[in-house]
Amino acid sequence: MKVIIVFGTRPEAIKLFPVIHALKARPQIDTRVCVTAQHRGLLDQVLEMSGIVPDIDLDIMQENQTLDGLTARLIVELGKVFDSEQPDRVVVHGDTLTTMVASLAAYYRKIPVAHVEAGLRSGDIHHPWPEEVNRRVVACIADMNFAPTQGAADALLAEGRDPAGIYVTGNTVIDALLATKRRIDAEPSLAAGLAPLATRFSGKRIIAVTSHRRENFGGGMENIAKAVKDIAARPDVAIIFPVHPNPNVRAVMDVELAGLNNVAMIDPLDYPHFVKLLDMCEIVLTDSGGVQEEAPSLGKPVLVMRETTERPEGVAAGTARLVGTDRRKIVAELFRLLDDADAYAEMSRAHNPFGDGKGSDRIAEIMAGAVKG
Ligand code: UD1
Ligand code: UDP
Repeated sequence: MKVIIVFGTRPEAIKLFPVIHALKARPQIDTRVCVTAQHRGLLDQVLEMSGIVPDIDLDIMQENQTLDGLTARLIVELGKVFDSEQPDRVVVHGDTLTTMVASLAAYYRKIPVAHVEAGLRSGDIHHPWPEEVNRRVVACIADMNFAPTQGAADALLAEGRDPAGIYVTGNTVIDALLATKRRIDAEPSLAAGLAPLATRFSGKRIIAVTSHRRENFGGGMENIAKAVKDIAARPDVAIIFPVHPNPNVRAVMDVELAGLNNVAMIDPLDYPHFVKLLDMCEIVLTDSGGVQEEAPSLGKPVLVMRETTERPEGVAAGTARLVGTDRRKIVAELFRLLDDADAYAEMSRAHNPFGDGKGSDRIAEIMAGAVKG
């Protein structure tokens, strides 16, 4: 069976590299890798550290790309790939435009689709935007749905999806996280680039910040920048903020945060360095999906700058809290964690509500079993 795995952004690459390794270990599957490079630099960081060499690279990213321009380029180019490769199955991950369009291009050719990280739902098509709809479109098409949690599987069942095509596997981000943590524990030089910041901020309480969501562009992003500035007014904290290369993020952050001596706005970190940052920080402030899943595994309280989440398991486990993008609320919740040891202890117990690190093997085994069947 010839399978093409299609992905294009940093989070897809992080969550799929263990799946690719697991599929390639099964000889009954001819595994081909197609990257759209919807992200260029961020994707290449992951490909390099994971040793994945794409068979096809569409190099599609443009500066400040629009949703419709990207959709148009993706549908044409992915269609050509499927026509020439003639795969028996297409595998996609999550909720990006690459994911949604690849499933649509496969559907136009009646190629079956497997969806990794299926079934996450916020219930609000504007949060996250446009990811909630991307994920729902894939669910209409995919005949194999790898749901990371029982909650995600239940969401698919509630939409009337065929139970025979739904598998609860755990989220493969935990596979990536645990494998990477093991690698940097064994070889600390893989994440040694943060040492100068650790020295500079020695004795301070480190907050890790990331932000990139499209629905937060404009007012939400400005609020986030101002909240980070308010937090940085405390002399006992230091903020390490790897800034997403989307120009709509950098420009806003530069206005509020440039020149503050306890805020390090740095380039995006490769995955081993980011895992190290999660490990060395005290609190995580983010609007990221993947980071919400990783922080609980490391026992790091995570304040989520979103109104809703399609990943409620972290909130239910007590390690994540939704704080939205209101400046005062973000600051108040963060200060509460800094100043109230009980509140911090309550949120900093390690939990693994998203998976056990074996999701990729389960997915590969199910796909290999389908070949035998
Ligand atoms: C995309 C996904 C989002 C995901 C996020 C992960 C969509 C619609 N959005 O959002 O679901 O959470 O990735 O980070 O699929 N850029 C670079 N270099 C890079 C990456 C991006 O310069 O390596 C800049 C480019 O100017 C690019 C812009 O960021 O045009 C936006 O990239 P895009 O993939 O469209 O959106 P993201 O906000 O990154
Ligand atoms: N990440 C990284 N370097 C960074 C910031 C994040 O490797 O500088 C990783 C993070 O550990 C997580 C993933 O990128 O696995 C999340 O990507 P992002 O926040 O861009 O997208 P989302 O998960 O929100 O779709």
